[in-house]
Amino acid sequence: MAIKSIDELCNGLLEKRKQVSLGGGEKAIAKQKEKGKLTARERIDLLLDKGSFVEIDEYVEHRCHNFGMEKSVFPGDGVVTGWGTVEGRKVYVFSQDFTVLGGSLGEMHAKKICKVMDLALQNGAPVVGINDSGGARIQEAVDSLNGYGEIFYKNTQASGVVPQISVIVGPTAGGAVYSPALTDYIFMVNKTGIMHITGPAVIKAVTGEEVTSEELGGAMTHNSRSGNAHFFADDETQCFNQIREVLGFLPSNNMCDAPLKKTSDSPNRAELDLRNIVPTNPNKAYDVRDVISKIVDDGKFVEVQPMWARNVVIGYASFGGQSVGIVANQANNMAGCLDIDNSDKASRFIRHCDAFNIPIVTLIDVPGYLPGKSQEWGGIIRHGAKLLYAYSEATVPLISVVLRKAYGGAYLGMCAKSLGADTVLAWPQAQIAVMGAEGAANIIFRKEIAAAEDQQAMRQKKIDEYEVAFANPYQAASRGLVDKVILPEETRQEIILALQSNRTKRKSPPRKKHGVMPH
Ligand code: HXC
Repeated sequence: MAIKSIDELCNGLLEKRKQVSLGGGEKAIAKQKEKGKLTARERIDLLLDKGSFVEIDEYVEHRCHNFGMEKSVFPGDGVVTGWGTVEGRKVYVFSQDFTVLGGSLGEMHAKKICKVMDLALQNGAPVVGINDSGGARIQEAVDSLNGYGEIFYKNTQASGVVPQISVIVGPTAGGAVYSPALTDYIFMVNKTGIMHITGPAVIKAVTGEEVTSEELGGAMTHNSRSGNAHFFADDETQCFNQIREVLGFLPSNNMCDAPLKKTSDSPNRAELDLRNIVPTNPNKAYDVRDVISKIVDDGKFVEVQPMWARNVVIGYASFGGQSVGIVANQANNMAGCLDIDNSDKASRFIRHCDAFNIPIVTLIDVPGYLPGKSQEWGGIIRHGAKLLYAYSEATVPLISVVLRKAYGGAYLGMCAKSLGADTVLAWPQAQIAVMGAEGAANIIFRKEIAAAEDQQAMRQKKIDEYEVAFANPYQAASRGLVDKVILPEETRQEIILALQSNRTKRKSPPRKKHGVMPH
């Protein structure tokens, strides 16, 4: 064999690089664009700081000998992997390349994904997985299934150690959806991102139901109906900007704190408007996001799952530069009551924040649990229990602010002192009681009301009496269950002080393998 010169060898490498960078080739790329989708590499460029991407495993090839596969080389085996930075911090990434065999997942494709996940875990950095794939590579059969299994296993090992983010920018079908479902967040792009276990054709054959792919598993469906997705974007550029923003609130791993955010917002900023946002009449609605934007740094709040279970609001903000998770009852949606879906939504977010050392600020205005057969039969007992469990096991600083109603079990479920709140603040209109004055008077003064000549007048008298005695923050404050009753405009300052006070919190739960969380 003729010995090649170094220039020939280098040119060979350059040619290989060029071939790999084109993925499935110009025709397939054009097809990808026709569908309104970017290429795997363009997506990585949108996610990472400009020019920071370092690719690995670009020359990996499949080892399949079925159905003529041995005759062809598929560049990168349908997935681009590597690492780069987001705002200067290291992030690992894999991006499925639909132009190569439909981004289908075979043995080596899975090994590439597992390698970046291992590197992320070893180096304590987030992993972003960009999903655009026809699913299990049919030609590779059980090797492909095994590859998925290995990814699920690694997702679970990495859970709570490094942030894991999934992006759905193409089809994600069958069992393949379970890798995203095991990660912290799912971001979906409207019209192109699709997730379902069984597609429309199988559903039609088995149940006779007719549904389009978009209706079944599109971005709107999973953001507003199923609760499987957490962020909705109109296009890929918006989606990757959202991911960069969320990563900015998260630490790189569970052993460190989230980065301090730059802010010139004064910790002593007092917003008198807060007195008018929450009506003192407990039956009047308002948007709790108006409270949030008045108290957090620069009014900036990044809401998670804004379209689903809207009677609770969750998301990230910062106080004095410190990243926090906010959980707030939303008075303008079902009066902010607790139910099955919002208990799931809030409890998962609390566990996520706790895993990643992000303090939790809870804004409470809760009338109770949603009554009804569908709630009871749907398991509100076990779903509601998740919220108690999540707060009780959390070891991060927990700051609660009672804005108005805090009734019964729902008051406890929203992180009362007894569940581990480190600092409980209450506004003057707070009502911390077993239930509202009207309900309470009807029960405990039933006989007096029935015996009265003017029952209406007696009922009102008893309601007023109950209100004076219990519908205020002072009874709880007299027992130390509220640390401080504050003016609404003092909220920002007091939360920042509470965060400072609890910054060095150390709490050691009893030794155990793991608890048994309600399901
Ligand atoms: C091998 C695949 C493939 C797959 C697509 N391709 N999916 N090759 N295995 N799973 C190939 C196509 O043959 C085609 O190759 C190229 O990718 C592009 O696909 P198109 O069909 O032209 O694209 P499009 O019209 O956009 O349709 C996309 C699609 C469709 C809806 C995803 O390709 C499709 O239905 N694929 C099969 C989906 C599927 O049944 N997957 C297995 C699911 S089970 P050419 O050479 O023609 O360009 C599963 C189990 C996981 O995933 C279990 C985990 C526990």
